Amino acid sequence: MIADPRYIRKAEVGDSKSVAGLHKEAINKGFLSTLPLRFLQLLYRYLITNEIVFVYANKNEIYGYISCALQPDGLLKRFVTTHFLSATLQLFPVLFRLRTIKKILETGRATHNKSAMHVPEILSVAVSKEYRLLKIGQLLLIELENSLTHKQFTHVKVVAGKSLEAANRFYQNNGFIKVDEMIIHDDELSYVYLKKINGHAGI
Ligand SMILES: CC(C)(COP(=O)(O)OP(=O)(O)OC[C@H]1O[C@@H](n2cnc3c(N)ncnc32)[C@H](O)[C@@H]1OP(=O)(O)O)[C@@H](O)C(=O)NCCC(=O)NCCS
Repeated sequence: MIADPRYIRKAEVGDSKSVAGLHKEAINKGFLSTLPLRFLQLLYRYLITNEIVFVYANKNEIYGYISCALQPDGLLKRFVTTHFLSATLQLFPVLFRLRTIKKILETGRATHNKSAMHVPEILSVAVSKEYRLLKIGQLLLIELENSLTHKQFTHVKVVAGKSLEAANRFYQNNGFIKVDEMIIHDDELSYVYLKKINGHAGI
């Protein structure tokens, strides 16, 4: 099977739960995956409404998604300000673990630091395990790049933990160049990638 571009579409608010579920299932290394599903759902609802999220879906069955912040600087602050009460309520069971508070602060700081270049940032991309290596991830990336080009952006960046082998290969094979290294969460080394985008003729 090869991925079909017709299954790519903009995510809708009703997709938030499925996208959050896929995040938890596919990205088990990151800190966000340790947070309650309801919190992630709220976060994706925010991203779908205010930033860019594309899904690869057959009707409502979602096999992959990509999310991107147009203005990563201050993203966490904007999200918390918009959803202060509900975000706090969803986080309540884990909020008092010191480790959680520390990680939330680190995540905010990391987003802030690597935003120095003021370019859109891919926040997450994931494909269901049984549908990987079929170019679904690549189609999602192309759609995102076309959308960014349309909005007059010339570059896109992403930060990937060194240990995420598939993700690092994925970005490198898709034209991202490693421009920096940084340490976030528990001294884990992450690579900062940048790509100049030109737009694609169509998918
Ligand atoms: C990273 C991920 C989204 C890639 O999606 P995918 O649909 O399987 O990737 P594609 O089929 O579009 O692959 C595109 C390119 O990346 C490469 N690639 C993707 N996964 C790879 C892997 N596991 N090993 C080696 N190369 C890989 C492919 O070889 C392909 O390059 P090519 O065109 O030169 O052959 C998927 O592996 C995934 O969901 N991983 C878990 C979540 C994750 O780590 N997300 C990133 C952090 S936010």
